Amino acid sequence: MVLLCPSISGLRWLLRKCEDYAAAHGLRYNAKKSELLVFKAGTKCYSNVPQVTISNSPLTRVSHFKYLGHWVTEDLNENMDIERKFKPILDQMLQMASDHGVFSDEDIREHLDTLVAASYDTTSSAMTHMLLAIATYPEIQNRLYNEIQEVLQNKDDDFTKHDLQKLVYLEAVMKESLRLYSATPLIGRNIDVDVKLKNCTIRANSTSIIGVYALHRHPLWGPDANEFKPERWLDPSISSLLEKPALFAAFGIGKRNCIGKSYSMLMMKIVLAHIVRQYHISGDIHKVVCEFDIVLKPVSGHHIGLKLRS
Ligand code: HEM
Repeated sequence: MVLLCPSISGLRWLLRKCEDYAAAHGLRYNAKKSELLVFKAGTKCYSNVPQVTISNSPLTRVSHFKYLGHWVTEDLNENMDIERKFKPILDQMLQMASDHGVFSDEDIREHLDTLVAASYDTTSSAMTHMLLAIATYPEIQNRLYNEIQEVLQNKDDDFTKHDLQKLVYLEAVMKESLRLYSATPLIGRNIDVDVKLKNCTIRANSTSIIGVYALHRHPLWGPDANEFKPERWLDPSISSLLEKPALFAAFGIGKRNCIGKSYSMLMMKIVLAHIVRQYHISGDIHKVVCEFDIVLKPVSGHHIGLKLRS
């Protein structure tokens, strides 16, 4: 219970009410679990705070306490509140709009539209193809299932951050799926100045399309570039291969690349791990016909079956 009161006499009155209520209902306060915090409100600051007691036990005075998951501090400083540090983006934009006037309502709506458009369709396209790829190759599905069971040691627990880091084969499967079935097979750029390349110049005021789909199947990936082989991501030589400029562009290239990359990888990893752990997935990625609709979308049905593992 938290009692908030602007004056000491008011607080005493509130405490008396609580004590009367407790006595009338045969309850006893645990004074050891109760604390006292005095807000420092500008110049109106008590230098001498008289002792506050509950059931004749003095309360310990604290400078901060946790309420509904948030730290409340005597100077109302938000710095120590970790939950508030990771405030939702809409809250941040609304606060920046009211504190500094940097966004209009329309700006906020447009930013949210961008975030929704950039996050939902991409993630669902990527996960559809990941599930289909896992279904198509039973030996990959078995290896994934075994990895998840080993990491969780056959327990029915939720995943921790450390468990997720250990799911290295799952991560390799996800990256291989993003390579062959990139959710964004094409990326476009407006060219505002002439860009001189080795063999040609891309003129200003033109549009340039980067073929991510083709890039991810380039012969530099090796003679097996068209094959679904998650192992390539576990081979130590992968890091020198990726040093080549932009050979993997599932999350874009350069300054305007995806801001949701780490978040979406983590989220997809959690969802896939739960699905693979509980269901046997069936399907055939080779039967699925896709079209380019900004993202890669199946137009022939998804051809995925899920059967609860016994
Ligand atoms: C599998 C999931 C995702 C894929 C494959 C993906 C892919 C991409 C790609 C390729 C770009 C760059 C486009 C370009 O260069 O023109 C991009 C940009 C962007 N992505 Fe993602 N994305 C994913 C998830 C997300 C999520 C979950 C969010 C939001 C939380 C997000 C937010 C954005 C934003 C805001 C941009 C624009 C960044 C800018 O223009 O500076 N994306 N994404």
